[in-house]
Amino acid sequence: MALSLSFFATLHLTLLFLVFFVNPSAINGYSDEDIDSEFILFHQDYTPPAPPPPPPHPPSVSCEDDLGGVGSLDTTCKIVSNVNITKSVYIEGKGNFYVLPNVTFKCTFLGCEIGINVTGNFTLGENSVILAGTFQLVADNATFSNSSAVNTTGLAGSAPAQTSGTPQGVEGAGGGYGGRGAGCLTDKKKMPEDVWGGDAYGWSTLQTPWSYGSKGGTTSKTVDYGGGGGGRLMLLVDKFLEVNGSLLADGGDGGVKGGGGSGGSIQIRAYKM
Ligand SMILES: *[C@@H]1O[C@H](CO)[C@@H](O)[C@H](O)[C@H]1NC(C)=O
Ligand SMILES: *[C@@H]1O[C@H](CO)[C@@H](O)[C@H](O)[C@H]1NC(C)=O
Ligand SMILES: *[C@@H]1O[C@H](CO)[C@@H](O)[C@H](O)[C@H]1NC(C)=O
Ligand SMILES: *[C@@H]1O[C@H](CO)[C@@H](O)[C@H](O)[C@H]1NC(C)=O
Ligand SMILES: *[C@@H]1O[C@H](CO)[C@@H](O)[C@H](O)[C@H]1NC(C)=O
Ligand SMILES: *[C@@H]1O[C@H](CO)[C@@H](O)[C@H](O)[C@H]1NC(C)=O
Ligand SMILES: *[C@@H]1O[C@H](CO)[C@@H](O)[C@H](O)[C@H]1NC(C)=O
Ligand SMILES: *[C@@H]1O[C@H](CO)[C@@H](O)[C@H](O)[C@H]1NC(C)=O
Repeated sequence: MALSLSFFATLHLTLLFLVFFVNPSAINGYSDEDIDSEFILFHQDYTPPAPPPPPPHPPSVSCEDDLGGVGSLDTTCKIVSNVNITKSVYIEGKGNFYVLPNVTFKCTFLGCEIGINVTGNFTLGENSVILAGTFQLVADNATFSNSSAVNTTGLAGSAPAQTSGTPQGVEGAGGGYGGRGAGCLTDKKKMPEDVWGGDAYGWSTLQTPWSYGSKGGTTSKTVDYGGGGGGRLMLLVDKFLEVNGSLLADGGDGGVKGGGGSGGSIQIRAYKM
């Protein structure tokens, strides 16, 4: 008898424990709904937006007329002097594309895209620089020479909503990406929900990163002091890839008056690097 009493006592304890474990709300009085709305309030968790489908390619520009180069994209196109383009370009051909040494090829408005898709070789010459928000290269072989750079620093187009540091107030916060941006709340009168570092995003596409970094917040209602988000860089090389230069997708600097942007994406695929 004593044995079965203690058996029931043990069973009762076990049941209590199970109830607590399975549903803590039964004990502390919070329902799951309260917890969810708390998460939304403090922007700690949300489902990342699905990446949009890739837009269809615009028609290719021409080597000489549009880029001021020499030759043709179906044989060899050489960019021999500085190029400052003012709209996104798609460059496609069955030949080689060479940016000769000491040449700057740039498109510097936020989110400007340079796409190059050639079946031959691509070379970025010594001391040459490509500046853009997005740089995508498809080539059979690619060479990035000494002291060259593909620089998308701070040139991102728009990142998903809420991933940038909150724009207003004295605490200009940092942009988010793989993790939450830094918040710098020093004003005790401000509610945490008004000032936050950018939300984390991008982690649903870590295998094939193709997201812009997000902007840092600014301390001014009228002037944007936040650093720009980092751009996107993709190299798809069928055979040999040699990189002696820099490939950059950093977030732009913040400063005393604004938060830094978050870095963008770099995706490199090649048979041999
Ligand atoms: C490049 O072109 C843009 C738009 O036309 C212009 O604002 C900018 O000053 C140009 N940059 C240089 C260095 O020529
Ligand atoms: C590139 O510029 C550097 C420094 O201005 C110069 O020494 C070099 O000869 C140039 N290279 C070419 C191929 O023009
Ligand atoms: C590159 O061009 C080829 C030939 O037009 C096309 O089939 C391919 O989809 C393009 N690749 C990318 C990544 O744009
Ligand atoms: C790429 O480089 C390899 C090795 O040098 C060469 O065999 C191949 O022909 C090159 N591709 C093109 C399109 O020239
Ligand atoms: C591409 O580069 C490779 C290696 O430098 C060279 O062997 C090949 O002839 C080049 N291809 C073309 C089409 O110029
Ligand atoms: C890249 O660097 C290596 C070693 O530092 C050098 O052998 C090679 O010639 C360089 N290639 C280019 C294209 O600058
Ligand atoms: C590129 O830089 C490397 C290392 O600094 C040097 O050994 C090589 O000679 C350079 N190559 C060219 C083509 O200048
Ligand atoms: C890349 O661009 C950023 C922003 O324009 C600039 O500060 C940085 O010096 C550049 N880096 C290189 C290596 O060109």
